[in-house]
Amino acid sequence: MLNFKKELAKIISDATNSNEKEIEGYIEIPPDDTMGDYAFPCFKLAKELKKAPAIIASELKEKINENIEQSVIEKVEVAGGYLNFYIRKDILIKVTIEEVNNEKEEYGKSDIGNGKNIVIDYSHPNIAKPFHIGHLRSTVIGQALYNLYEYLGYNVKGLNYLGDYGTQFGKMIEGYKLWGKEYNIEENPIEELTKIYIRINELCKQDENVLESCRNNFKLLEDGDPYCMDLWKRFRKLSLKEFQRIYNLLGGRFDSWEGEAAIAPKVPEVLDILEKTGKLVKSEGAKIIDLEEKKMPPCIIEKTNGSSTYASRDLAAILHRARTYNFDKAIYVTSYEQNLHFKQVFEVAKLLGIDEKYTNGLTHVPFGMVLLKTGKMSTREGNIIKLEDLLNESIQRAKEIIKEKHTDLANEDEIATKVGIGAIIFNDLSNSRIKDEIFDWDIILNFNGETGPYVQYTYVRTNSILASINALPTVDKINIEQMESKEALKIVKLIYNFQEILMEATEKNEPSILSRYLINLAKAYSSFYNEYKIMSDNLEEKDARFYLTYMTSIVLKKGMNLLGIDMPDKM
Ligand code: ARG
Repeated sequence: MLNFKKELAKIISDATNSNEKEIEGYIEIPPDDTMGDYAFPCFKLAKELKKAPAIIASELKEKINENIEQSVIEKVEVAGGYLNFYIRKDILIKVTIEEVNNEKEEYGKSDIGNGKNIVIDYSHPNIAKPFHIGHLRSTVIGQALYNLYEYLGYNVKGLNYLGDYGTQFGKMIEGYKLWGKEYNIEENPIEELTKIYIRINELCKQDENVLESCRNNFKLLEDGDPYCMDLWKRFRKLSLKEFQRIYNLLGGRFDSWEGEAAIAPKVPEVLDILEKTGKLVKSEGAKIIDLEEKKMPPCIIEKTNGSSTYASRDLAAILHRARTYNFDKAIYVTSYEQNLHFKQVFEVAKLLGIDEKYTNGLTHVPFGMVLLKTGKMSTREGNIIKLEDLLNESIQRAKEIIKEKHTDLANEDEIATKVGIGAIIFNDLSNSRIKDEIFDWDIILNFNGETGPYVQYTYVRTNSILASINALPTVDKINIEQMESKEALKIVKLIYNFQEILMEATEKNEPSILSRYLINLAKAYSSFYNEYKIMSDNLEEKDARFYLTYMTSIVLKKGMNLLGIDMPDKM
């Protein structure tokens, strides 16, 4: 597809004798239409050209105007230190409809990532503990990134790095030994195991001997003792079965389920390597890497009792993943509570002697907390919401709303699932991920708000319009002038920018760039729909309006699918 940014970069670099690639990187898409289709911030060249930005802008404008007829530019304006470009409408429309016509359901796809490997460490719940709302966010963001990178041609692997290792399993085993018969862990694994865990913790506080047995169990587990291993495997399997129910609703694509337990035996190699750097030091019986120079607390590599730590396991995982996946980028999706952990681990990883390619590729993608209207939700608080209940409640609520609108839907449950789950996913992705998120049913499921159901509803509308015709108009018969109205052009411009949005979303690991875009497209289509009659008696008008509807439909669906949301055909 003709790339306007590249075209403009060429024109600007010719006129200023500067590097085309660099210029391309500076060109922006302005936030609103009154500032043109593209803007070039002239201050970026001020140093190089030794001129004030406003002067550069007006000189550049003059130069560009000399040959403007032969270019894709309709007009260019100076606005402060910026140059605002307007692209020729006819070219923009033609290029866009031809591209959609060629690519259809694959519109926006790219092979820019070919040959690059990306691993995404996400979801990663902890065995025998509730899958909480933080894991939901990680799952939703991680999955969207997985889909986005994949669509741009990267080779992506999803890693579910389960929290299936730690001294708590020594306790859980002891608790089960003592009271296992009292709890039905087959029926309700996580709830029952949590109860056992709370009870054994209480006992440990009172009785030092019990605590000692727990520690011993953990040691046995590490050494592969059959009884302890069997129990641990059972806890893991039952937990996964329960998590799977959540993944069935939410999605979540995993190529590996290797958790911390699978990595723990690889920690000694990390210790060896770090030992040889001379930077591993003893401190109060533990082994640490001092990070004072980096203004961070020390990274604990080995505990006083000789066990590995969360950090040393992550270091071993980096070695393992570099070898297994030869990653160009390794993304970790967790709440910002783990910012320090990853900063420390990524710093120490530089001592592992692996290629810089790997350490440069380590990327923490943090996200904010989920705040229920009643307060913060976290595992540490006694009264946690069961995530599965939350998802089912959303489906139930969606069903009631849909029932009010229709009485005759055959696949009501399927639609309610798509709408209810889509609403939760979209809500999770609709604001910049680092922001704390408010979880409020009235917002999430508002069909007229900036929500998942609103985008789905707009899509359903495009679909029913398209269902009313036998065949789409052929692209070369479309009169391009029919798409030059303000409302139509807004849609065309958004559609043209789709791939750019996908690229930006992956560059910043920020799915909200796509969700905001989809809201804008749905809104633009709604305005168009309210302003113009799609089924016009004028054939030319009708063809153009149908084609706009078709393009909108394709992009809304593809965009939502990339976010991990299924689209209903009716609602
Ligand atoms: N299981 C951890 C938790 O629930 C998150 C794991 C994150 N991934 C990692 N490689 N450390 O907090």
